[in-house]
Amino acid sequence: MKQVARKILLNPGPATTTDTVKQAMVVEDICPREKDFGKLLDSIKEDLVKVVHGGDEYIAALFTASGTGGLEAAITSAVPKEKKILIIDNGAYGARMANIASTYGIDVVSYKVAYGDFPDVNHVEKLLKENKDVSHLAVVHHETTTGILNPVQAICDLAKKFGVEVIVDCMSSYAGIPIDVKRWGAGYLISSSNKCIQGMPGMVFVIFKKALLPELKNQKRSYYFDLYSQYVGFEKTGQMQFTPPVQVAYALRQAIDEYFTEGEANRWNRYQENWNVLCSGLKKLGFEFLLPDQYQSKILLAIKEPSSPRYNFDAMHDYLYQRGYTIYPGKGAKEATFRLSVLGDLYKTDIENFLAELKGYLLHAGIITA
Ligand SMILES: Cc1ncc(COP(=O)(O)O)c(C=O)c1O
Repeated sequence: MKQVARKILLNPGPATTTDTVKQAMVVEDICPREKDFGKLLDSIKEDLVKVVHGGDEYIAALFTASGTGGLEAAITSAVPKEKKILIIDNGAYGARMANIASTYGIDVVSYKVAYGDFPDVNHVEKLLKENKDVSHLAVVHHETTTGILNPVQAICDLAKKFGVEVIVDCMSSYAGIPIDVKRWGAGYLISSSNKCIQGMPGMVFVIFKKALLPELKNQKRSYYFDLYSQYVGFEKTGQMQFTPPVQVAYALRQAIDEYFTEGEANRWNRYQENWNVLCSGLKKLGFEFLLPDQYQSKILLAIKEPSSPRYNFDAMHDYLYQRGYTIYPGKGAKEATFRLSVLGDLYKTDIENFLAELKGYLLHAGIITA
């Protein structure tokens, strides 16, 4: 087996993966229409539901796509023709869901919040009262733009009162932050293979209430991303409709096994520990953060860009990249930021080593003095 260097990815996925997940992709060639491969996908689907404690009430459909494809599948499949979708837009990924809906001609009621501000559930209620033709509400659980954790439980409770189904983008929280989808009562939850589940990029999954299946039947908007045909097709044939990324699926199977071996609480504790070490180390170096502590997801930190004229994100990135650490730029938050995430197969010592290299850069660039 070829040995590869371990890189520390502090971008919010695709993440640093274990060697065993990487190695899981080296498998015998297999036609994905074989029963053996169908069994693998079936076990993946079942376990993906277990991660969020969906029990028998929830089912999963897989698509070959990045995360955005799953959002497209959920939104275009769920919203009936004459209905509207209310979207909480407090980050680039809320905005993306609104863009997806508009692209397909779905009417959007947008609740725009500055990127870094917490959405007001009372305002969501007001919008639901004003817009009786809203059938679905979409929200990002962990908004990766800023690191904010949106109040999904409160939003789901509210939506229930109005008979509105909730679509939750859990791209960068699923398998990182413990989620109980039944307690939420969300209609749809979307995540991808390459974030906190710690697999490879290439697959996205929509976990949804089984009871919603009949209403999805006749509202197909997209050929490729139709949730109903993808789910029912697999049930009938044990195959995905279109060519799956075979090796990515083997890696996902291994990543799920490693998730269950680590355990929900241990993974969350590891991420939190990484985040706390990162946070306190950065504070010591003089950095300030976009969000107050109570809104932090503890998966990602949006850090205010230093005002020093010597600061340059690209130079900092390149310095760290050459030393094995990948950092991430900002994405339209209300203040200029760069971002660091702790998701993936990362440990306290990785974060400590990173902080030492970062300090090295700040000294080298003359942003701080010894
Ligand atoms: C919250 C959220 N939603 C959606 C996406 C889009 O995923 P992808 O880039 O895999 O299409 C991302 C990607 O980082 C994300 O963090």
